[in-house]
Amino acid sequence: MHLADEAATEKLGRDLIAVLPEDSGGWMILMQGELGAGKSTLARSMIRALGHHGKVPSPTYTLVEPYRFSDMMVYHVDLYRIADASELEFLGWSDLRDGLLLVEWPERVEGLSERGDVLINLSYRGDGRNAEITGISQRGREAIHSVLL
Ligand SMILES: Nc1ncnc2c1ncn2[C@@H]1O[C@H](COP(=O)(O)OP(=O)(O)OP(=O)(O)O)[C@@H](O)[C@H]1O
Ligand SMILES: [Mg+2]
Repeated sequence: MHLADEAATEKLGRDLIAVLPEDSGGWMILMQGELGAGKSTLARSMIRALGHHGKVPSPTYTLVEPYRFSDMMVYHVDLYRIADASELEFLGWSDLRDGLLLVEWPERVEGLSERGDVLINLSYRGDGRNAEITGISQRGREAIHSVLL
């Protein structure tokens, strides 16, 4: 789909949250696309749609930004600075798997994309962006159906 401006990227984030189960702990949403494509914008909108009203800083330097909601944790992760899978444990990766994971730069870790539920690939198109949404897991494919309608 075409995302003409930042507001359209934010709407996609809200639409994605709307189709996830209320408790989406254990789900992994992957966001790919070159620098500045809008991955953090999308993640920020999803975190706000879940009811977070404070700041949503980019995890570029912290690598993981956690958010506590009443029924689940959300982890906004940026793997840009990760060189390979062996570095994931520095992030306490296995402890994050119970939460909803919003992962920027998943392609930094080989094999991670195959383990996600939904992949959003953002690319530059004119002044806006193009979003390609792919369901990876069975539940991911079922969920995105209604976003695309
Ligand atoms: N659909 C859109 N059209 C035009 N600009 C957009 C769109 N969506 C987001 N932007 C803008 O793109 C810029 C970069 O966004 P963002 O920081 O989310 O990118 P990113 O993919 O997370 O970058 P990085 O790879 O550095 O983490 C922001 O200024 C944002 O407002
Ligand atoms: Mg970012």
